[in-house]
Amino acid sequence: AFGDHTSIVVFGASGDLAKKKTFPALFGLYREGQLPANVNIIGYARSKLSTEEIRERIVDNLKLKNDKAKAKVDGFLKLISYVSGPYDQPEGFQKLNEAMNEYESKNQVSKPERLFYLALPPSVFTTVGSNIKTYAYPPKEGRLRIIVEKPFGHDLESSRKLQEDLAPLFTEEELYRIDHYLGKEMVKNLLVLRFGNEFLNAAWNNKHISSIQISFKEAFGTEGRGGYFDEIGIIRDVMQNHILQVLTLLTMERPTSFDPEAIRDEKVKVLKAFSELSKDDVLLGQYTKSEDGSKPGYLDDETVKNDSKCVTYAAIGVQIHNERWDGVPIVLRAGKALDESKVEIRIQFKPVAKGMFKEIQRNELVIRIQPDEAVYMKINSKIPGISTETSLTDLDLTYSKRYSEDFWIPEAYEALIRDCYLGNHSNFVRDDELDVSWALFTPLLNYIESDDFPKPEGYAYGSKGPKGLRQFLEKHNYAFSQEGSYQWPLTTPN
Ligand code: BG6
Repeated sequence: AFGDHTSIVVFGASGDLAKKKTFPALFGLYREGQLPANVNIIGYARSKLSTEEIRERIVDNLKLKNDKAKAKVDGFLKLISYVSGPYDQPEGFQKLNEAMNEYESKNQVSKPERLFYLALPPSVFTTVGSNIKTYAYPPKEGRLRIIVEKPFGHDLESSRKLQEDLAPLFTEEELYRIDHYLGKEMVKNLLVLRFGNEFLNAAWNNKHISSIQISFKEAFGTEGRGGYFDEIGIIRDVMQNHILQVLTLLTMERPTSFDPEAIRDEKVKVLKAFSELSKDDVLLGQYTKSEDGSKPGYLDDETVKNDSKCVTYAAIGVQIHNERWDGVPIVLRAGKALDESKVEIRIQFKPVAKGMFKEIQRNELVIRIQPDEAVYMKINSKIPGISTETSLTDLDLTYSKRYSEDFWIPEAYEALIRDCYLGNHSNFVRDDELDVSWALFTPLLNYIESDDFPKPEGYAYGSKGPKGLRQFLEKHNYAFSQEGSYQWPLTTPN
């Protein structure tokens, strides 16, 4: 673990990611007493800003909901200083190094810990990395940790190139590739739910499960990010990373322990059993104006090419060819500009044996990652009283009902930055894992970006997605529950 005196350097300190995620996460950790006892936070960016100015920018983005948070702001801001400099020249890095040296010698730190957070576009990862290595690397007795953000490449080839460039600079031990979905509470719970409950563990296979779905829905489009998104598309943006990570945790074998390498070994193993994604087993869409015309279509964005074929919705069939999963249809789906914002997993079980029941519905386990974490299992139960009929109801663990509001559930970035300074790699992406995930998606991406791909199907902003969705899901074994028979939660929250 990190010692008491740690320097945390945030590169790209005046950028969006740092403002919206990194600094608020550091503040959250500070507020909860989870930062190392003595910490020195330095923002680094090209803009010439005074310490006062950077502190003002940071404070604007902090969530100050309660008195506890408000009381901690000043203390937090005092920890922050700023160094401005270019990313591709030594001088800024030398200044940075002096600032850290000064802090370390003032506090007589014998083993300086330095954590670098690169909230930067990948085009400068290598340059910044090599300047850190040359000018700001901690002395021999110390230790370095470096956090990088996606995108880790654009396809298999560019991802390998990035790995090759970074490998001589930092060891795998020093590198922390962040995928913020791995820091989400419910995602961190997956291993416990699966392996800590024998009734789930025993049924977790192709004998009992008939279909798996992971869906990521956002109720907003690419507003303001069109130019960036156009080169990326929904598959690179959230599937190759976030959604695939969730699927991996859901389908891997039991690791021997919670040891980070034991977990990551199993993740890589199951990824290798995935079959190639087929261009014939996908449903691809791009959003158009909302039905009432109030919301713009994707192509209305001025930063997007007029004839862009960029995919903003994708449903992809996945198959895993191993003993546990062979024959279970899996659907990953993700889309922007849909009817709601929600991320959840649905596992449907096979129907019970015929005989006793003429009509009975299937068990379905739903794990809702966001909003409002919940796990609920749809079960059949007799309607209470004199009725002999069966109806579908649920075993329901909704966090907001079960745990009090005082329970601190860290935000994804808070959890991951904390893991990083504690030296825990479990929830970060390992190099070989990244490689297999790109190998899986690259052929499909190449097809979508070739002239052979006609164009994605339109769906209206605010709708459920492309028209063929229901049929696509049914084709993958998903049984919709009988109209009007069941609704979760039983009372609609306001
Ligand atoms: C990011 C994507 O990685 O994840 C965004 O680039 C997406 O497009 C976001 O909106 C979703 O994260 P969250 O935590 O809001 O679900």
